[in-house]
Amino acid sequence: MANILVVHGPNLNLLGQREPEIYGTATLEDINRQMTELGKQQAMNLEFFQSNHEGEIIDRIHSAVGQADGILINPGAFTHYSIAIRDALSAVKIPTVEVHLSNIHAREDFRRQSVIASVAVGQISGFGTQSYALGLLALAEYVKRSGHFA
Ligand code: DQA
Repeated sequence: MANILVVHGPNLNLLGQREPEIYGTATLEDINRQMTELGKQQAMNLEFFQSNHEGEIIDRIHSAVGQADGILINPGAFTHYSIAIRDALSAVKIPTVEVHLSNIHAREDFRRQSVIASVAVGQISGFGTQSYALGLLALAEYVKRSGHFA
């Protein structure tokens, strides 16, 4: 059984009411429920964490050492500038998949850059709630293949 930490960054607690034309109408609870179902099928234990605070996200990543086999993260706006979250992921060396609801490459210029992508196994962006499902499947496969469990 693989343990996966799912991290939701700032403003994602507002999903459902936040700019639905960009982010859709599903709430964070809906997305987590969908992932929990998928997790069961993939023999994965999921733990969810949402924070609007950079330091709390970093602390949660640190405490995943020896506990999580993989991290699925939507860093929200931190994607574009948090070297500190990038360094935390790089330090713990836990395989990470980055996901986004919207296609960050097709929006404002400042969203095109991800400082997280270079320390992630990969990035999935633009498929709405399906980005999470696709990211989770990709991470499950990667963790199983690597054979390293916490
Ligand atoms: C987001 C994209 C980011 O640019 C934005 O700041 C978010 C959500 C996405 O899931 O599409 O908060 O990560």
